[in-house]
Amino acid sequence: MNRDPIGIFDSGIGGLTVVKAVREILPGEDIIYLGDTARLPYGTKSTDAIMRFSIEDTQFLVDRGAKYVVIACYSAASVALDIVRERFPVPVIGVIQPGARRAMQMARTGKIGVIGTALTIYSGAYEKAFRDLGARVEILGKPCPLFVPLVEEGWLDHAVTRLVARDYLEPFVKDDIDTLLLGCTHYPLMMKVIKEIMGDINYVDASVEVGAELAQSLKDLKLANPGAAGSTAIYLTDLSVNFKEIGERFLGEPMKNFSRVSLKESH
Ligand code: DGL
Repeated sequence: MNRDPIGIFDSGIGGLTVVKAVREILPGEDIIYLGDTARLPYGTKSTDAIMRFSIEDTQFLVDRGAKYVVIACYSAASVALDIVRERFPVPVIGVIQPGARRAMQMARTGKIGVIGTALTIYSGAYEKAFRDLGARVEILGKPCPLFVPLVEEGWLDHAVTRLVARDYLEPFVKDDIDTLLLGCTHYPLMMKVIKEIMGDINYVDASVEVGAELAQSLKDLKLANPGAAGSTAIYLTDLSVNFKEIGERFLGEPMKNFSRVSLKESH
């Protein structure tokens, strides 16, 4: 079982940032990645739909032998972590808790800003994560839905992006938060513009934390792969005209070894 792959899924290709972080921390592991590009975005859809999609995504990875599943999509992790854990016999980790843990270590004033898709912010997943950690912090959430298409368009350093970011983030500047959680796969790519507005505060990009927690958990469960050079296989439910260009933006290297797949419907 140690030599089985780690399964990682996201609504699209943004979760490749998590693949990149896991690759760096666990170079010996094989990774199978599923991006549900045919049904992207998840962040604007209902809890019911995203729970169902997450079950189908996990089933795909488990059918291909995943020994561990990582929900790299913040929207899916916000609403479907519990149901996926209940339904499948493999350990599952999401991106919400590791980020919350890191933010708690960093925050000094106890005022934490969280940005994400509408589904993530309105799900209350971060409030729950901080409650579970026993943290007495004030959470200020703000959905920033336009950030996703701006990143996909490659407008990472663009006047329109600055205008949109200012509109979303200015209330945080007034509220004087000292830590900002980037609760969406796409937002770390906008770090330059976000920092221009928010200035010198703490920023949490959970992908690195997820990699570290996964490494520890694999060790604890004796599931770590002793191999030296792991592989990455990328499966996407749709190959749009510019998926490679977008994917490489997240992955930070040429995208190889990808194919289109269909998922089994859960009902
Ligand atoms: N991957 C999603 C997330 O992290 C962003 C894109 C979407 O809405 O599907 O929430």
